[in-house]
Amino acid sequence: MVGLFSRMIVATTIRMPKWFVGWVSKRYVAGPNLEGAVKIMTRLQSEGACFTIDVLGEDISSIQEAEYFLSEYVEVIKAITNNNLDANLSIKPTAFGLLIDKSKGMENIEELVTIAKQHDIFVRLDMEDHRVTSDTIQVVIDLHEKGFTNVGTVLQGRLFRTIDDINQLEQKLSSSADYRICKGIYLEPESISHTGYSQIVEATNACIDRMLDAGAYTAIASHDVPVIKHTLAALESRKMGPNIEDPRNNAGPERTHKGPGYEFQMLLGVRGPLRRKLAKQGHRTRVYIPYGEKWYEYSIRRLQENPTIGTQIAKAFIMPWTNRP
Ligand code: FDA
Repeated sequence: MVGLFSRMIVATTIRMPKWFVGWVSKRYVAGPNLEGAVKIMTRLQSEGACFTIDVLGEDISSIQEAEYFLSEYVEVIKAITNNNLDANLSIKPTAFGLLIDKSKGMENIEELVTIAKQHDIFVRLDMEDHRVTSDTIQVVIDLHEKGFTNVGTVLQGRLFRTIDDINQLEQKLSSSADYRICKGIYLEPESISHTGYSQIVEATNACIDRMLDAGAYTAIASHDVPVIKHTLAALESRKMGPNIEDPRNNAGPERTHKGPGYEFQMLLGVRGPLRRKLAKQGHRTRVYIPYGEKWYEYSIRRLQENPTIGTQIAKAFIMPWTNRP
């Protein structure tokens, strides 16, 4: 029934006029330009949040298009510095050319990570679909080997491979591993991923435990109460928490500037009250701020990739008490 409802929403949204999609996505996208993103971050700072900034766009069709992303992210770095924002970058490796020309894509990412490092800014490689999982992880390993520890990846709880990936990264990066763990937005084939809600939650929670035990910096990116509750219990059992210096023996000296060793991350416009509650309790909370000209393509593509988003958006508008910004 929910599946049918979701498919109906997707089918109708794709046929909706652009202004309507724009009106709906206004809450989830900071706007077409960096100025709008800075405005929103300046406002949300007062809620105790820090940020990660995403220039919308991915899966480019020519390697030249990657130049736009490189130069736009350099502007983002300038804006972070000039406005004294507590923010880092989230990039899509395919927007830097990873699927078109692996070595050029890697070169582009390294160029950005180098500039970011000069400004003491962290770069998160968002995780896209399974075509680029191994390459994205490899980029992070290669950059760490070159001395860039200001870079980390995202892992997706729904994929069967993720626990093995954490083990491999623990070997390669030891305590400088820095993850974002999420359920994974892409509906991957049954042969490589969990597909049921409870299995995905269980697998994601197991990954969170494994990351915490590996001494890694762990950013939990979820709005789902069972995942957040599990995380709070996992932190407590490891004597981790707000304003406590990371007590893990294997957290290592690289961790010292990373506070308590974990943070919560949420998307702009989603479950604000929950984020503010966590911030009030003293947890570090980070908001994902997407902006860019490609807001329309981004909104439609997200819906096509995962129709349950359609249900969540509809729920947020019809029953606003379930998801306040
Ligand atoms: P779930 O989908 O069960 O949502 C729980 C509740 O939150 C819903 O019932 C609803 O109320 C609300 N909600 C969640 N999403 C909503 C939305 N879009 N609109 C309205 N309400 C919504 N994935 C990936 O594959 N690669 C990546 O790099 C990232 N990066 C990333 C960064 C950050 C900061 C976040 C929060 C998430 C991601 N994701 C991601 C997406 C992630 O994998 C996952 O698809 C979504 O977070 C939804 O899963 P939840 O754990 O929030 O649970």
